[in-house]
Amino acid sequence: MRKSAFLLGGVLLVATGMASVVGDGWWRASAQQADQKMPDVVTMGKDAKLGQVTFNHAKHNNGAYNITPGTPIACISCHHTAQPAAEVAKHPPLKTAWPADRTTSLTAELFVKGPREAGVANCRECHARTGEKPKLLAAIPEVKHEGSPALISLNNMQALHRTCAGCHTEVKKTIPTSKAPTANQCTICHKKTA
Ligand code: HEC
Ligand code: HEC
Ligand code: HEC
Ligand code: HEC
Repeated sequence: MRKSAFLLGGVLLVATGMASVVGDGWWRASAQQADQKMPDVVTMGKDAKLGQVTFNHAKHNNGAYNITPGTPIACISCHHTAQPAAEVAKHPPLKTAWPADRTTSLTAELFVKGPREAGVANCRECHARTGEKPKLLAAIPEVKHEGSPALISLNNMQALHRTCAGCHTEVKKTIPTSKAPTANQCTICHKKTA
C-alpha cells in the first residue's frame, strides 16, 4: 500500500514537471524560480551595519502608499527593466530591458497571468554588492547623468537608496506630513534586530 502510493506520487511529479517544461520555456528565464511570488514584506539590507530594512512591498503596490492620491505606484517605477526596451529608452539614462527581447510591461495582472513571462528579476541579480559579480550582467551597472561627469557605480546600496529615498523625497514635497523616510533618515529604514 505504502509502496504504490509512493510510486503514484513519483509519476505525478514527473508528469507536472514535463508539462511546465513544454509549456513555458523556463530555460530562457534562468534567473526566475518556478515558484516566484509577489512578496508582501521583504527583509533587505541584512549586511548593513545600521541594521536590516523591512520593506512593505504590498503597501507600496496596492494603493495604501501612493504619490498621487488614487493612483497606485507602478511596478516599473522600481522594476525598471521589466518593460520593452523602447519604453525604457524614454527614461534616460535607463536603457536596459530584461529579458532583452521582452514585449510586455510588468503589471499585477501580467504577473498573476504568468509569473515567468512577467520577467521579474531581483534587484541584486544586477545591482550586486561592491566586489561581487552580478548574476545577470557582466559587471555592476554604471550610469552618468546629464550635466555631470560623475560615473556612478550602481551597487545594491546605490540602486536601492536612489529608488527608495528618491521617491520619498518627491513625496515629501507634495505631502509634507508623509511618513516616507528620506535619504538621511537612515534608521527609519534600517533597524537593528534585538
Ligand atoms: C528609504 C529607506 C532607506 C534609507 C532612508 C536608508 N537606507 Fe540604507 N539601504 C536601504 C536598502 C533597501 C538597502 C539595500 C539592501 C540590500 O541590498 O539588501 C540599503 C543598503 C545600505 C547599505 C549597504 C549594505 C550592504 O549590502 O553592504 C548601507 C551601508 C546603508 N544602506 C547605509 C545607510 C545609511 C548610512 C543611511 C542614512 C544616511 C541609509 N542607509 C538610509 C534602505 C534605506
Ligand atoms: C516601491 C518599489 C517596488 C514596486 C512599486 C514594486 N516592487 Fe516588486 N520588489 C521590489 C523590491 C525592492 C523587491 C525585492 C528585491 C530584493 O529582494 O532585492 C521586489 C520583489 C518582487 C518580486 C520577487 C522577486 C524575487 O526575488 O523573486 C516580485 C515577483 C515582484 N517584486 C513583483 C512586483 C509587481 C508585479 C509589482 C507591481 C504590481 C511590483 N513588484 C512593484 C520593489 C518594488
Ligand atoms: C536585469 C538587470 C537589472 C535589474 C533586475 C535591476 N536593474 Fe537597476 N539598473 C540596471 C542597469 C543596467 C542600469 C543602468 C541603466 C540602464 O542600462 O538601464 C540600472 C540603473 C538603475 C538605477 C539608476 C537610475 C538613474 O536614473 O540613475 C536605479 C536607481 C536602479 N537601477 C534601481 C533598481 C532597483 C530598485 C531594482 C529592483 C527593483 C533594479 N534596479 C533592478 C540593471 C538592472
Ligand atoms: C514611487 C514612490 C516610492 C518608492 C519607490 C518607495 N517608496 Fe516607500 N513610501 C512611499 C510612500 C508614498 C509612503 C507612505 C508614506 C505615508 O503613508 O505617509 C512610503 C513609506 C515608506 C516607509 C514608512 C512606512 C513603513 O512602511 O514603514 C518605509 C520604511 C518605506 N517607505 C521604505 C521604502 C523602501 C525600503 C523602498 C525601496 C525598496 C521604498 N520605500 C520605495 C513611496 C515610495
